[in-house]
Amino acid sequence: MSDIHSAGGTLAIRARVLSYHAHPLEAGVEASHRYIEDGLVFVRDGVVETVGEATAVLPDLDPAIPVADHRPHLLMPGFIDPHLHMPQTQVVGSYGTELMEWLSKYTFPEESRYGDPAVSDAAARFLMAELLRNGTTTAVAFCTSHPQSAESFFAEADRLGLRMVGGKVMMDRNAPDALLDTPERGYDESKDLIRRWHGNRRLSYAISPRFAPTSTEAQLEATGALAAEYSGLHIQTHLSENHGEIAFVAELFPWAEDYTAVYERYGLVRRKALFGHCIHLSERERGALADKGATAVFCPTSNLFLGSGLFDRDAALAAGLRTGIATDIGGGTSYSMLTTAAEGYKVLALRGQKLRGHAAFYMLTAGNADAIGLNDRIGQVAPGFEADFVILDTAATPAQRRRAERIETLEEELFVLMTTGDERNVVATYAAGRKVHSRDGDRGLPGRLDQPPHGPGALPIGGGAAQDR
Ligand code: GUN
Ligand code: ZN
Repeated sequence: MSDIHSAGGTLAIRARVLSYHAHPLEAGVEASHRYIEDGLVFVRDGVVETVGEATAVLPDLDPAIPVADHRPHLLMPGFIDPHLHMPQTQVVGSYGTELMEWLSKYTFPEESRYGDPAVSDAAARFLMAELLRNGTTTAVAFCTSHPQSAESFFAEADRLGLRMVGGKVMMDRNAPDALLDTPERGYDESKDLIRRWHGNRRLSYAISPRFAPTSTEAQLEATGALAAEYSGLHIQTHLSENHGEIAFVAELFPWAEDYTAVYERYGLVRRKALFGHCIHLSERERGALADKGATAVFCPTSNLFLGSGLFDRDAALAAGLRTGIATDIGGGTSYSMLTTAAEGYKVLALRGQKLRGHAAFYMLTAGNADAIGLNDRIGQVAPGFEADFVILDTAATPAQRRRAERIETLEEELFVLMTTGDERNVVATYAAGRKVHSRDGDRGLPGRLDQPPHGPGALPIGGGAAQDR
């Protein structure tokens, strides 16, 4: 964590503090979290040093340390979004098709523009500002096949001091020429980006074969070689999202017993390998993913929007398969992890499965940190963890304030927040102890990003200012 010390803020924040350290479904609700009604979090150099009752911590606090008082709002770890597409901010809500047609009709033409730095810089700036407006402090992102798109992504994340994971997609068939690389180019360009960005301050590179239908066996072979060279890196791809896609994979890889077997063959199934969707898996496939410590990523708004199907969370749990939950912008329709959890609840309800408030907020924070293998540094508000926080106003709208009159427990408060919430509930977002978004545009509070941590640029303060830059 020493990599962020020079970039982080030093301050204290007073709020209702909520942090999960275990899955409520496994440990039980009480043993899963810490909740402090009047809490104080002391951050030094971007890392949490102390968390406790405000009345206990305040007397020992150096009076020179600024205190941001966010009472009565909730402070939680910043949300983590383990699957989205940086170049799809202008694809969201494209009408009326299922996956394969949606890709060729809207997504591939849009992604073809991203070799242009003006296009990819603007998208990266928009994306990060929008994530922060929604309280998301870490995302795992697909860029396009153009190395430029990953450059833009990493440069903007670095400028804001965010912990972000991303990679250029590798794809060498079944897409327009403007998007195709080759096995050699995909390998070389990825390696070059790894050298330039991976481990740079808070940035990590994800090896990113788009999905089996857009890579030849030669490319998957080269991807496997890269993955073997860099055994600690993330891998991200798509798996078993749509019946047409699965049938196409069966045609393209006739030797494979199922879709997952394609990725297994090339050594792409392992810890920190993130498989988007995983809707129509067989028991064999779930077992194979679980055995290797890989992660299935549930993308509810996307799965509903594209009519892809209903993720089976309980089958994943029964198989011991690690699961994350993500927006999948722009097959997904919302940047909000609150909305994503709400739609996740509905998908699970259609399967007769349950998602309660505590379990949902565990998933958005510590659960997703575990899903992406960064649970040693983000996803909790606890000493030694990086100081990425979201401050949530659980009664931000007239309808929420009226509903709140009948709320009696924290579980209820969380469930209503998830069900009715969105970016209006996000009062502020902190990254490495610096305020990087403020809903109300307040400029006097301590901990704000007075100086961008890296390089020049305008302040990412206030929703409007952050987006209009
Ligand atoms: N499978 C391969 N590429 C994509 C993509 O961009 N979005 C979704 N939802 N699925 C994919
Ligand atoms: Zn995706």
